[in-house]
Amino acid sequence: MGTFSGWTIPLMCSAFFQIPVKCLILLFLSRRGDTSFPRNEDGTLLYDNIDYKLTWAAMEKLVGKGLVRAIGLSNFNSRQIDDILSVASIKPTVLQVESHPYLAQVELLAHCRDRSLVMTAYSPLGSPDRAWKHPEEPVLLEEPAIAALAKKYNKTPAQIIIRWQTQRGVVTIPKSITQSRIKENIQVFDFTLEPEEMNQVTALHRGWRYIVPTITVDGKSVPRDAAHPHYPFNEPY
Ligand SMILES: NC(=O)c1ccc[n+]([C@@H]2O[C@H](COP(=O)([O-])OP(=O)(O)OC[C@H]3O[C@@H](n4cnc5c(N)ncnc54)[C@H](OP(=O)(O)O)[C@@H]3O)[C@@H](O)[C@H]2O)c1
Repeated sequence: MGTFSGWTIPLMCSAFFQIPVKCLILLFLSRRGDTSFPRNEDGTLLYDNIDYKLTWAAMEKLVGKGLVRAIGLSNFNSRQIDDILSVASIKPTVLQVESHPYLAQVELLAHCRDRSLVMTAYSPLGSPDRAWKHPEEPVLLEEPAIAALAKKYNKTPAQIIIRWQTQRGVVTIPKSITQSRIKENIQVFDFTLEPEEMNQVTALHRGWRYIVPTITVDGKSVPRDAAHPHYPFNEPY
């Protein structure tokens, strides 16, 4: 169930199954079949083109059966969100998208707020441990404006970024396998950024996406999936 490529995946969140102790927080529906990345004969990725509204209807049935509590979206643009809302009998609770100071998502956040969707920011620290990191890409955790705020508040750059998101009402999901960082990342409730500092961080926006698979065409790095009919990032937001 779902449409292949990862761009059009409805996301089920807070899905609590009848399993003692364990709870499934997020279940992603993203592809069918046994092969993670099926390919055409010419080596290009084989896409599925299921209408995501049908996937949404299937997910609503899961809610109806009591298998999940809430369903939401990930990597949808504003038009796609409204597309779902136009058919949904159960509204999405959340939109999970990439967001950090270099990709502030101001318009999309306003769009979500107007429709009572919570925005969740994935890769909020710029995903510095990505295998496909490019040596020339901007390093968010080394941003001087963030470092200056970190110094002022005696916090780390990560804490400033998480506080900025939290203070503007965005849920963040920083990932860490390091105990000290996991603790650090939650210690963001004992200080408040000034309004002009909030604006200063938002102004760092440069439309930069860390999490877009790219391929090289004619020597240029281009988004791998831009030709997919449901690719969400060809539109402004
Ligand atoms: N919905 C989607 O399409 C989608 C796409 C991408 C990611 N996500 C989700 O978003 C979450 C986070 O994304 P991500 O892992 O790509 O990016 P991220 O949280 O921005 O970055 C994780 C990296 O930051 C480091 N880190 C964590 N806390 C730090 C701190 N306080 N100071 C310095 N470095 C710190 C981690 O190091 P250590 O682990 O070594 O401590 C790790 O290398 C994951 O749960 C992921 O599944 C969702």
